[in-house]
Amino acid sequence: MSTQHGAKNDARRHRGLFRTKTVEQSIRDTEEPEHSLKKSLSALDLTVFGVGVIIGTGIFVLTGKIAKEQAGPSVALSFVVAGVVCALAALCYAEFASTVPVAGSAYTFSYASLGELPAWIIGWDLILEMALGCAVVAVGWSGYVRSLLDTAGVHLPAGLSGTHEGQFGFDLLACILVLLLTAILVLGMKLSSRVTAVVVAIKVTVVLLVIVVGAFFISGANYEPFVPPSEPSEGGHGLGAPLVQLMFGFTPAHFGTMGIFAAAAVVFFAFIGFDIVATAAEETRVPQRDVPRGILGSLAICTLLYVAVSIVVTGMQKYSELSTDAPLADAFKASGQPFYAGVISFGAAVGLTTVSMILLLGQSRVFFAMSRDGLLPQVFSRVHPRYGTPYRSTVVLGVVVAVVAGFTSIDELAELVNIGTLFAFVVVAVGVVLLRRSRPDLPRSFRTPLVPLVPILSVMASVWLMLNLPAETWIRFAVWMVAGFGIYFVYGRSHSRLGIRNRAGGKG
Ligand code: ALA
Repeated sequence: MSTQHGAKNDARRHRGLFRTKTVEQSIRDTEEPEHSLKKSLSALDLTVFGVGVIIGTGIFVLTGKIAKEQAGPSVALSFVVAGVVCALAALCYAEFASTVPVAGSAYTFSYASLGELPAWIIGWDLILEMALGCAVVAVGWSGYVRSLLDTAGVHLPAGLSGTHEGQFGFDLLACILVLLLTAILVLGMKLSSRVTAVVVAIKVTVVLLVIVVGAFFISGANYEPFVPPSEPSEGGHGLGAPLVQLMFGFTPAHFGTMGIFAAAAVVFFAFIGFDIVATAAEETRVPQRDVPRGILGSLAICTLLYVAVSIVVTGMQKYSELSTDAPLADAFKASGQPFYAGVISFGAAVGLTTVSMILLLGQSRVFFAMSRDGLLPQVFSRVHPRYGTPYRSTVVLGVVVAVVAGFTSIDELAELVNIGTLFAFVVVAVGVVLLRRSRPDLPRSFRTPLVPLVPILSVMASVWLMLNLPAETWIRFAVWMVAGFGIYFVYGRSHSRLGIRNRAGGKG
């Protein structure tokens, strides 16, 4: 019955740009021995993996900057808004991941439902999310390590300490970190997940420490006003203002109710990573059951922690006085607790390591999947004969990210990462609805509730956050996507394995 249904759909399948790879084909590809990854992860591994990548620069670095400049204590509400957007997307991701358990995340899912060109677009978009995300986090890590080194009396020359306030400096530590992590990933998943588990434990302990110890230093006066009144932004005119404010002719402003949403569009970075759990589906023992558990579980834990941390930190120190480099540690310093400040800095530096590593892992897996499909050169999808890892894509991307991390600063990159990720959410939500229509017969161990309502809400919520990002971020994103179209039409379209198969079978 289900085979008949599949065959009928195959016959109807579009050709050319919208040719789709069947779900069965996706799963078969993962079974070819020289292209297959080891299946060793459980639901707990995935949750640890998720928390490992989710908690990072967002909470450790962006909270202070955003509370200070855009939302005040109401940054806690921004985390709730961003968390709701992610929960809606997670419900869609979980259905997709549990139906199409192969490497590549939204890329693979869209190949099975929307077609080759949309899949290419989303894969290209995910590379943006994870490669730049990894670079952003490595730069944040380097800042915390430098602060610890400074305390120990070791000072790096300014020229090797990264770019600050327009003054260029090569970020030596960030570059070295990415190269080291690349080597660990080439050696294999097993080693990486063990390292991850220890580091995640340290990171979560530090976050709990901030919440529990910090609660004793809260002063109610710091919450007045909880939502600071809206004020016109100085540099926010023109392309630096959120697109929604320009579109509807508002005077670009900070704080107030609009400030909560503009802040949500930036602190959204703190949630990035739960979608990456889906990229490990192919390496999971029972993906149909464990992937949804891993995604929803890690997202729930992180949302609770973020709201608690932001309430505590804005209660410890007046939002206008929060530091923008190491806000959690500095709030403790300001409360006369240098010991805790040191512990927090150390934990943050350790914690950001796994975030960087998992983002690097995620992007190499998407690159791997795209190469396996022939949309990128196939030499990148050979797995290492001994370690069982896609070492070529890992090394190539690791070196590129190391260079980017060495030469860039955090701010604008984070917004670019966010817009790319939100766009991927939109595609996934649309894909859930399309796949329910085109392949109602596929077994889905996790089903998104209230389809199509939840996917529609997910699209609306993601688009709303995207509109709250600056117009210049939209322009940069458009440039990246246009470059992606160019590569697809020059290379991917003619080298696609699916296209070649279809041609050989006289179908396409
Ligand atoms: N969510 C990750 C972070 O905040 C990417 O660093």
